[in-house]
Amino acid sequence: MKDEIKTIGVLTSGGDAPGMNAAIRSVVRTAVYYGFKVKGIMRGYAGLLSEEIIDMDGASVSECINRGGTILYTARCYDFLHENGQKAGAETLKKHGIDALVIIGGDGSFRGAERLAAQGAKVMGIPGTIDLDIGCTDYTIGFDTSVNTVMEAVDKIRDTSTSHERCSIVEVMGRKAGYIALWAGIACGAEEILLPENYNGDEREIVDGLIKARKKGKKHFIIINAEGVGHSTSMARRIEAATGIETRATILGYMQRGGSPSCMDRVYASAMGAKAVELLKEGVYNRLIVYKDGRFGDVDIEEGMKAQKTLSEDLLRLSSGLIR
Ligand code: ADP
Ligand code: F6P
Repeated sequence: MKDEIKTIGVLTSGGDAPGMNAAIRSVVRTAVYYGFKVKGIMRGYAGLLSEEIIDMDGASVSECINRGGTILYTARCYDFLHENGQKAGAETLKKHGIDALVIIGGDGSFRGAERLAAQGAKVMGIPGTIDLDIGCTDYTIGFDTSVNTVMEAVDKIRDTSTSHERCSIVEVMGRKAGYIALWAGIACGAEEILLPENYNGDEREIVDGLIKARKKGKKHFIIINAEGVGHSTSMARRIEAATGIETRATILGYMQRGGSPSCMDRVYASAMGAKAVELLKEGVYNRLIVYKDGRFGDVDIEEGMKAQKTLSEDLLRLSSGLIR
């Protein structure tokens, strides 16, 4: 049968996220279980273009479920943004006998997957990003671990902020999206949560809020600032000057992407990896694996990429209602 899938490739692309290894492991082990051959592509689309391709079996993914990062490495590949790169990628898949490719990554990686599908490749996307910013799914691999890492870090910063009676601005990742900031802000009882989706840039409001709270006897302040708002260091200087309250900025950076994945990330990533292979086994491809309304499912890649996501109104209301 011309279209039969015998060999499945797997790669990770874009920013690494804790739980990607659990997804790779699940793709490989499920594929082996069903009798597929498996090939790993190193360094995302960059490795596809440079043909860094390895054979994988069940043993290739031993002892990785608990590890952060990705055993297949990852990269951002600018050549893949162009049609020539995408054509070359599809050719490499053919040359190496890879009948379908599972792509674990964020929305950029999925755009790449869409382009690869347009070149005739069979693809399957698994959402892996700490940012949670993929419209068609309520869950992305790595968000849970990341937001817990942020929560632990902010709890620690709070101790020192309290001792010095300071204001701390903690900048968290998320690119243009505020999911990490919103969740961490609620979980850490932040006084202010600055989100790219709704921040109006009015520092006066923040300053007035801090002065009012200090008058009421509040000793310390935590401001969670999303990287999409940014400028935490200069903001700290301005807030200190306007309030007289010592203010420090901490940019958490890459610690938010590393570390051993949470139980949720391991289990959900495993479920998504298995689902991707099961669909390929049924001859279904060019889909994105999603978790929506409490269930794992799949959507057409083009339809999925059209889906817009907005911050939960309930969480936004909750976050402002809980600040005193
Ligand atoms: P993420 O997948 O985490 O969102 P990026 O946005 O950096 O990360 O995308 C990862 C890679 O996916 C890029 O380096 C590029 O190779 C590929 N990619 C991103 N956008 C496109 C696009 N519009 N067309 C083709 N490939 C893309
Ligand atoms: O997409 C994950 C992410 O960590 C974003 O939150 C952040 O904006 C970006 O990647 C940083 O990318 P880089 O690894 O290129 O610095």
